Amino acid sequence: MTEPLGDMRRTHHCCELGSENVGNEVVLMGWVQRRRDHGGVIFIDLRDHNGLTQVVFNPEHNSAVHEKAHDIRGEFVIAVKGKVEHRPDGMTNPDLVTGEIEVMVNELKILNKAQTPPFMIEDDIDVSESIRLQHRHIDLRRPKMQKNIITRHKASAAIRNYMNKNGFFDIETPVLTKSTPEGARDYLVPSRISQGMFYALPQSPQLFKQLLMISGFDRYYQIVRCFRDEDLRADRQPEFTQVDMEMSFVGEEDVMAIAEGLVSAVFKEVLDITLDTPFKRITYAESMDRFGLDRPDLRFGLELKDISDIVGTSGFKLFANVVKKGGMVKALNAKGCENFSRKEIDDLTEFVGVYRAKGLAWIKVRENEWQSPIAKFFTDEEKQQMTDRLNMEPGDLIFFVADQPKITNDALGNLRNHLGAKLGLMDPKEFNFVWVTHFPMFEYDETEKRYQALHHPFTSPLESDCELLETDPLAMNSRAYDMVLNGSEIGGGSIRIHQKDLQIKVFKALGMEKEEYEEKFGFLVAALDSGAPPHGGLAFGLDRLMAILCGGDSIREVIPFPKTQKGACLLTDAPSSAAADQLMELSIKVDLE
Ligand code: AMO
Ligand code: AMP
Repeated sequence: MTEPLGDMRRTHHCCELGSENVGNEVVLMGWVQRRRDHGGVIFIDLRDHNGLTQVVFNPEHNSAVHEKAHDIRGEFVIAVKGKVEHRPDGMTNPDLVTGEIEVMVNELKILNKAQTPPFMIEDDIDVSESIRLQHRHIDLRRPKMQKNIITRHKASAAIRNYMNKNGFFDIETPVLTKSTPEGARDYLVPSRISQGMFYALPQSPQLFKQLLMISGFDRYYQIVRCFRDEDLRADRQPEFTQVDMEMSFVGEEDVMAIAEGLVSAVFKEVLDITLDTPFKRITYAESMDRFGLDRPDLRFGLELKDISDIVGTSGFKLFANVVKKGGMVKALNAKGCENFSRKEIDDLTEFVGVYRAKGLAWIKVRENEWQSPIAKFFTDEEKQQMTDRLNMEPGDLIFFVADQPKITNDALGNLRNHLGAKLGLMDPKEFNFVWVTHFPMFEYDETEKRYQALHHPFTSPLESDCELLETDPLAMNSRAYDMVLNGSEIGGGSIRIHQKDLQIKVFKALGMEKEEYEEKFGFLVAALDSGAPPHGGLAFGLDRLMAILCGGDSIREVIPFPKTQKGACLLTDAPSSAAADQLMELSIKVDLE
């Protein structure tokens, strides 16, 4: 029943025709969105990536073609030739670009049949994400997905255009390579030729882009896939795309200006929005203090206040003890939320528990009294101090977390975002950019009992902090910076270490002996000793940026073929087991005991 395309060629896409085409003979091709049989006349909405056109099969106009049209079903692929006509009075559709016209068909070719699709090819379908991912090729036909993927293409084109104009060279770096530490586990690829040896897939092109600077390319960029085996979330995929860049002979401000120009170009191209640059800047310390997180969402208030000094000596032993042990008590004022129910507060307590907070104390501020299980522990003076610091007014609900600083900040910072969403304080139309600067150079890993680089081990410390390297590494700040948009870290980078001696000192501070850093990074150390220019750069997470530009909650909405939380591709069923002979060639034995 299907027919070959033959020499039929389309003349237009499905959203191109309007009144000005009336009388033209046209050929359209695409998928059948919908078929309606109206007492003899058959109407079909024909769809391509561009839009819809109504095509009409009228038995009085051409009975053979009309007869054939009876066989057509949803998602069939067809070609039609016909004449563009005005729709009859009252039948125009102002919601459709082509709503003034229809095509009266003289010739029909059914190019391919289709099974009934598992869901409707339209937006706002009520179907689970796993069904969508299993049939991703069909899911991608939906207008929203077509728009997202095409918008991503436009953003990539704008990025390339901007980088090319600013003197950056697009240079490829290897995918089969050696581990580049970015804080995640590596994906390993076994080598057949060198038995027992493995390549690592790059967590980023970090070391190669530094080598390119040392090779004298001056400015590099690449839209590049990175691979990280880490716990997945809405904004994390095992393979994701970076807009990666590096520049020679620069300081922080130069890289930040290029990065601001880049997002400005993308916002102009995609949303026709002109961004205000330079973006705000906030230090890591201030961000942690006011927002509890290093990626603050500045669209709303609900700032955290440290009240350790007030409650540290109070009669509330739980708070006082935490402060005595070097912990921290912080609070946030949920303005006007005094009417939250017990259940709502319990849910929020459970929410902060995910961030390891042991509880969530609260006070409901009423006229002349505090309703709270903990109010009785505080003196009038302490109450007054809290009232002033937290700007407490009748109708407010105050939340408290007492714990080690890391947990207190993490729990309340995430609670702040959660409340911001719950209370509708985040304007989805606002794009609030901020640079977070002056990150600490190291953090202490309690489980491994050693220092770790907060950014990566190639990030330069602030020059003035270098002397702390041997005495107080935790007090050192680095020359790293993150770009944060609406509470999402969309990019990060740093000025790098370009002197061999300093790089070795940092490796040592990270607990690496000579043997280890020579084995892992000997090539970098040698390169730094071959005439390395000062350099720095940044990488954007393109998926995150696109998710925000497209108004989606998850980066999976802007990735054509994403993986699930478990790292699976439901369309192809990857990962899957390997054939015995493949494993044998690699000398790999799978032992799942
Ligand atoms: P970083 O590790 O901060 O820096 O990564 C840069 C940006 O990539 C995005 N990103 C991710 N997006 C989706 N899924 C993931 N699993 C994921 N991990 C990171 C984030 C992040 O800001 N080489 C350095 C950059 C540099 O120093 O120049 C690097 O990779 O948006
Ligand atoms: P309890 O004395 O355990 O009943 O706790 C009294 C109140 O303090 C409850 O609302 C708890 O949720 C809260 N709470 C317990 N531990 C903490 C903590 N570490 N930080 C903040 N609030 C807490």
